[in-house]
Parts: sequence; C-alpha cells; structure tokens
Amino acid sequence: MRRGVCPAVMGDLLVSLADQNVPALHPKYSILRLERHKRACLTWGRRLAKVMPFAPWIARYLPLSFETKVQLDALPRPQLAYGMFAAAMQARALGLEAITAAELGVFAGAGLRCMERYAARIEAIPDLHGVRIEVVGFDRGEGLPASDDPRDAPYWFEAGLFRVDIEVVRRSLRRARFLVGDVADTVSDFLALGLPPLGFVSFDLDYYRSTVDALRILAIPDQRLLPRVLCYFDDIFGVSDLTILGPCVGEEAAIGEWNASNPRRPLAPVTGLRHKRPFAAPWNDQYWALHLWDHPLYNVGINPLT
Ligand SMILES: C[S@@+](CC[C@H](N)C(=O)[O-])C[C@H]1O[C@@H](n2cnc3c(N)ncnc32)[C@H](O)[C@@H]1O
Repeated sequence: MRRGVCPAVMGDLLVSLADQNVPALHPKYSILRLERHKRACLTWGRRLAKVMPFAPWIARYLPLSFETKVQLDALPRPQLAYGMFAAAMQARALGLEAITAAELGVFAGAGLRCMERYAARIEAIPDLHGVRIEVVGFDRGEGLPASDDPRDAPYWFEAGLFRVDIEVVRRSLRRARFLVGDVADTVSDFLALGLPPLGFVSFDLDYYRSTVDALRILAIPDQRLLPRVLCYFDDIFGVSDLTILGPCVGEEAAIGEWNASNPRRPLAPVTGLRHKRPFAAPWNDQYWALHLWDHPLYNVGINPLT
C-alpha cells in the first residue's frame, strides 16, 4: 500500500462505515456518501482481489452492510443485487420514492425470492431514504414453448424444459407479484398494475422469440420507466462450448431487433462495468441499459459532486 493514499482511502471507508445508521439530511449528500463508500470498496476490494480472489464467498458470511456486500459480490445472485441497488440509487438521486424490479423467466422462483430479499435490504439502507421497491415476476409455468426458429437455439433448449408447479412457486413468494402466462400476453398486463417506474429488469427466458416479446415491457410510457433502465440478460453466452450464441441468435438477436425499431430508446451494453467492480465477473458482460433519450428526466443532473 502506498503511503498517503492509504489514509485517505481508509478515511473514506471509516466514514462510510460509521455513517451507515443515519441518513444524510439532504438526498444529494446521501448519494455522495454512497458514492464514496463505493469508491472505498473498489479500492480496497481490488487489493483484496489480488491476494484473495475468493473473498466474495467469505464476505457473504461476515456482518457487513448490504451495500458493502453488493459492491463485493458477496451475495448469492450479485447480478440481481447490483441492478436493483443501482436503480434504487438512480431513483433516489432523481427524487423518486419508488421503483419496480422485474424478472422475466422465474422457473422455481430462486431468483425472484432473492429479489424479494434484496428489495427489503435496499429499502432499509438509510442513505436511500426509504426508496420502495416493488418486485414482479413473469412465467408461463409450462417451461420453454415448442420452437423450430433457429434463433431460439432449439438444438440446445428443449420444449418443456423448466416446467414448474406455478402454485408452489406462488406460495413460496413473500411480496412479489407473479404474472402467469406467456410473456407475449402478460407484459401488456404489467402496465395495468400501476406500479412505480421500472428501474431494473432481469431477462431470463432463454429464447430469442420470448425475449423479443418480453422486451415490449420497455415500450411503455416514459413516466413508467426510469430514464436509464438497467437490464440483465442471463443468456447472452452459454456455459457450454456447444451453445454458440451471438448477435444473430438468442437474447442478443432480440436486443438487435429492439434497437432497429426503437432508435430513441437504445439498449446499449454498460461498457466497462467490470472496471467498476472490485471482483470482475462474467455477469459484468451481461448488462445492458435502456436509454430513454426523450424521457423528461434523462438530462436532469444527478452528479452529487456538482
Ligand atoms: C432458465 S428459466 C428461468 C430461471 C430463473 N430466472 C431462475 O433464476 O431460477 C427460463 C424460464 O423462462 C420461461 N419462459 C420461456 N419462454 C417464456 C414465454 N414465452 N413466456 C413465459 N415464460 C417463458 C420458462 O417457463 C422458464 O421457467
């Protein structure tokens, strides 16, 4: 550790740890404090990553604050926690009181239950001043639909895969709303729920066609969306060398189609996300953001340093 840098960073870390129980009086200072905390985690986390690359697994079991765990990936589904936390921060910086986080493709509900828990933890972060998070999930219950569209990669995904008992899933949920049916139909029911602006969406439907239908959730009026909606795509690349995905098949093909028909609402990769994380991970390359250039809040200043 270099002399001079260390005390400054240490100071940041101590300030952010010490401040955690009391929110700053003005949301702007709260955002500043969260930013400083993030930077301290980044600096210390990077050092830790060099000597202890498995630190996130250990940190899961340490009594750290939730925002520290989000920054260190010390949670079972860090990709979901990141998007929800970043969306809540954006909402707070814009002075909004609530957001919605959605998962498209729920299966047995493991991801959605994580989102419920993360929503409760984020709502309790003092510096977010009680920003509320509604959670909503979508699934048809019968697993993947039959398909012979090559863009769905049916050579890998089989019809009926992920079939689940919807009632069991529903009973396992604590607070999430659950829209059952084909997303081609249910995304239009979303608007009628009258939920706060959508700030985070996890797309996990495997197929190109299902993702094209699901992306219509981003075609709702401006006031029902944050100006920048964080989108996680679970199936951008498969783990197996037998699934060869890319811009012409699967989720990425659906994103390309969205961009071709929505020039004022581009979906763009969150470039360089891995450089903003102390522990770079594959999910960093699975993040896109919807930019709503015509949203009345898109150009509103949220830089806490100005
Ligand atoms: C990989 S699983 C989701 C896993 C889940 N996100 C998790 O973390 O456990 C994919 C899910 O997408 C659902 N699905 C695929 N196409 C769909 C469609 N057109 N409408 C509704 N659900 C669909 C399937 O039923 C399946 O449960």
